[in-house]
Amino acid sequence: MRLVDPDGYRVEVVTGQEVRAPALPFTDPPRNTAAAKPRTRAPVRLASAPAHIQRIGHAVLRVRDFRRSEAWYKARFGLLTSDEVEAARDVPLGAFLRCDRGDVPSDHHTLFLAQLPGPPGLLHAAFEIANLDDLMLGHQHLKAAGRKPAWGVGRHIMGSQIFDYWLDPFGNELEHWTDGDLFTADDPPQKQTMQALLAVQWGTPHPMLAGRLAPPAGLIAFIMALRLRVLRLFRRKPEGTSA
Ligand SMILES: [Fe+2]
Repeated sequence: MRLVDPDGYRVEVVTGQEVRAPALPFTDPPRNTAAAKPRTRAPVRLASAPAHIQRIGHAVLRVRDFRRSEAWYKARFGLLTSDEVEAARDVPLGAFLRCDRGDVPSDHHTLFLAQLPGPPGLLHAAFEIANLDDLMLGHQHLKAAGRKPAWGVGRHIMGSQIFDYWLDPFGNELEHWTDGDLFTADDPPQKQTMQALLAVQWGTPHPMLAGRLAPPAGLIAFIMALRLRVLRLFRRKPEGTSA
């Protein structure tokens, strides 16, 4: 089935797909920690290689009107909100949406809709790779090849993934990630700030926060909050009028 969303994105719906279990092209040795040592008499030996992509995990779309797009996608796909991000108090910027699989745990997000300045477009596509070693080997591979890093390595707050963003030769942003959160339908939506969206639990700061990418995050939040507040002022009914 083919649909067109409110911003003109063509959405292709495929059902009944069979998903195969990931087949790693290498062994995945258990990790020794301070608490447990499951790997004994077996050294870790990793071969240099690109990261091994297992599947596409999510996409981030820039939309003109977040509430309009959110309603459209939720009505058709039953998506649930994991985290809604606010540019300022009660000023939504976007949301991380996940699939409703009932009691079956589902990725923290499959789709992120973001109402950001600029025309609608794909902000990034994200691919799950095998594990942390695979992500770091992939990072090393891309760095050695002279590719353009965008952000990473680090661990997100929302979704908790360990991430690594790169630009392809055409300027598209692509993400490798591993170790993300999963939730069931019982987990309620959360509200988050834009600062939390760009902050990391550890790792490389976002280029905007590090001052390496203009405009700064604070300016975007300010512009969006201002724009939405002005719109609300125009829409607000005069006091004393009834619905
Ligand atoms: Fe992502």
